[in-house]
Amino acid sequence: MSIAAENMHTGTPLLELSQVTKRFGGLTAVKDVSFNIWPKEIISVIGPNGAGKTTVFNLITGIYVPTSGDILLQGKSLLGLKPNEVVVRGITRTFQNIRLFNNMTVLENVLVGEHTQLKASVLGSLFHTPRVVREESEARRRALELLSFFGNVLVERQDEYVINLSYADRRRVEIARALAANPKLLLLDEPTAGMNEAETLDAVKYIRRLRDELGLTILLIEHKLAVTMGMSDRIAVLDYGQKIAEGLPEEVRRDERVITAYLGKSKTGDEHVTEL
Ligand SMILES: Nc1ncnc2c1ncn2[C@@H]1O[C@H](COP(=O)(O)OP(=O)(O)OP(=O)(O)O)[C@@H](O)[C@H]1O
Ligand SMILES: [Mg+2]
Repeated sequence: MSIAAENMHTGTPLLELSQVTKRFGGLTAVKDVSFNIWPKEIISVIGPNGAGKTTVFNLITGIYVPTSGDILLQGKSLLGLKPNEVVVRGITRTFQNIRLFNNMTVLENVLVGEHTQLKASVLGSLFHTPRVVREESEARRRALELLSFFGNVLVERQDEYVINLSYADRRRVEIARALAANPKLLLLDEPTAGMNEAETLDAVKYIRRLRDELGLTILLIEHKLAVTMGMSDRIAVLDYGQKIAEGLPEEVRRDERVITAYLGKSKTGDEHVTEL
């Protein structure tokens, strides 16, 4: 990390990646990656296709177990926890390709995100005890409150199947579902992918509001470099599984290794260079 960025923080990081490596057979997807995420930061991971960005998310969320290294949330290791246990600890995510239940309504999708928070027993649910009824109406109220974070549109369309929504609205529902489990840290995998310019600008605004109004810490993967540069407090750059740079956006933008990594990629490189 740059000295300027490092000096801004004291105490325990919210999340700490310590020399994390992940190998799939002969392929090292993530190699010896370390970085800290500080409370209320918006930090981006960028890098060319296949650099290991999504794998980092899968390691943090317990989908993959690191081959070596450690991942700590508020100083406590997350290693050995199942994905649902990582959610309970306070980390939720969205996916590069939206993963909603298309045969369920907008509201139902958000309610799914709340199930880790509900206390009522299975037996109670079968017999519809007063506690269950109370929890259900409270869960609905909270789900609607989360949808209203994105304005009125999703509240008005709460009973529609998500498949009928625009791509940008589905991305919003996915974030609402991730918020429903009360995270401290929210991981967004390419939250503006597939969006036009207006939708992208709107997404940048609500991602900032997630931090400013809800006090969340946000780690995001973003391919649109102009977006990342404008929105992130700090940026970590991966290339072939390794962290090649980390720092403030203006530092990363000028970094020779970063420029070379993007110039070196033939297929998507041109686009990235223009945006840099
Ligand atoms: N489950 C897996 N088994 C084998 N190889 C994998 C697995 N998951 C990821 N990889 C490989 O690890 C490397 C990193 O993949 P990853 O999806 O993390 O990249 P990425 O930076 O998210 O790329 P993109 O920008 O295209 O989304 C790639 O070579 C990928 O093929
Ligand atoms: Mg990816």
